[in-house]
Amino acid sequence: MKGLILSGGHGTRLRPLTHTGPKQLIPIANKPVLFYAIEDLKEAGVTDIGLILGTNMPEKVKEAVGDGSKFGVNITYILQGEPKGLAHAVAVAHEFIGDESFIMYLGDNILKSGINEFVEGFQDSDYQARILLQQVENPKQFGVAELDQRGQVLNLVEKPKKPRSNLALVGIYLFKSSIFEAISNIKPSWRDELEITDAIQELLNSQLKVDSHVVKGWWKDTGKPEDVLDANHLILDVLKPINNGKIEEGAKISGRVSIGNNTIVKKDSVIRGPVIIGENCEIATYIGPYTSIGDNSRITGGEIESSIVMGDAVIECDERIVDSLIGNHCQIVSGENNLPKGRRFVIGENSLINL
Ligand code: G1P
Repeated sequence: MKGLILSGGHGTRLRPLTHTGPKQLIPIANKPVLFYAIEDLKEAGVTDIGLILGTNMPEKVKEAVGDGSKFGVNITYILQGEPKGLAHAVAVAHEFIGDESFIMYLGDNILKSGINEFVEGFQDSDYQARILLQQVENPKQFGVAELDQRGQVLNLVEKPKKPRSNLALVGIYLFKSSIFEAISNIKPSWRDELEITDAIQELLNSQLKVDSHVVKGWWKDTGKPEDVLDANHLILDVLKPINNGKIEEGAKISGRVSIGNNTIVKKDSVIRGPVIIGENCEIATYIGPYTSIGDNSRITGGEIESSIVMGDAVIECDERIVDSLIGNHCQIVSGENNLPKGRRFVIGENSLINL
């Protein structure tokens, strides 16, 4: 069985963070979201993985993932070019997949308990696809499945205006090679994309069998800032604390806290886990629960809680920062002689400031 991870898309809902890199590299608990997908595939025994690249700085994905050896997998890069939909991305990978079964994993999806239990038995079955579903409150934002009373898939609709159920399609799918013919028979949707949801519906139209599993543990599509923060909460909830840093006497650390190499936690700091702090950081303030701080950050003022600081950041203000996503190389400071009074900003396109 092969793996196919999709790492294209413009990530418009995550601007400005996606102005400087693809959304699949946004860190969740200090690890790019894409790495969770690679690890899940490896865990399920899939080591031959095609990684589909889009046009938003694909070289950054190559730099982060390399040839896959650090994960124990083989990565083949496949260039999709302009994103014309998930089914288009699969069609572009036809040569790589050949006539094998494969797992398609959207690189911005993250699933609590991995995919092992969903993969079992698929290859030898006569199912042409297996979809994962989860109940959601906002089905209009997803692909939605209608099942009959026995749990058989009746139909699938992408972003329905009037959803027939609240069962959303999780961005992880298992396919046989029959999906390629189904894709060649579909037309672009209203959003001008070849939808994988329509291709699976096409299998059903051809009387081919599609299996479904309802996912019980949590699942997140990290397409929006609030979803990224939610995913960070969920991953930090199961954080294994490892301390490789230096904690000065007087600093108070409670709960599950992970601290990277060469990081110093100065006296008078208070850290309440779950918190992860990367390498080469300096902390001299309050860091509250559900916060991830990336490498080379200096946080010496204010308070920060329930947030992601991606890395190389400087925070030395007097404010309390909550529920925030702070990109690489950002600085949040208070001027020493701040006259005349006022907030001073240097912020890029699509930034959000909530004072
Ligand atoms: C895509 C799929 C949708 C699925 C979702 C899961 O949506 O088209 O069917 O429910 O991923 O993450 P998109 O992220 O393109 O809006």
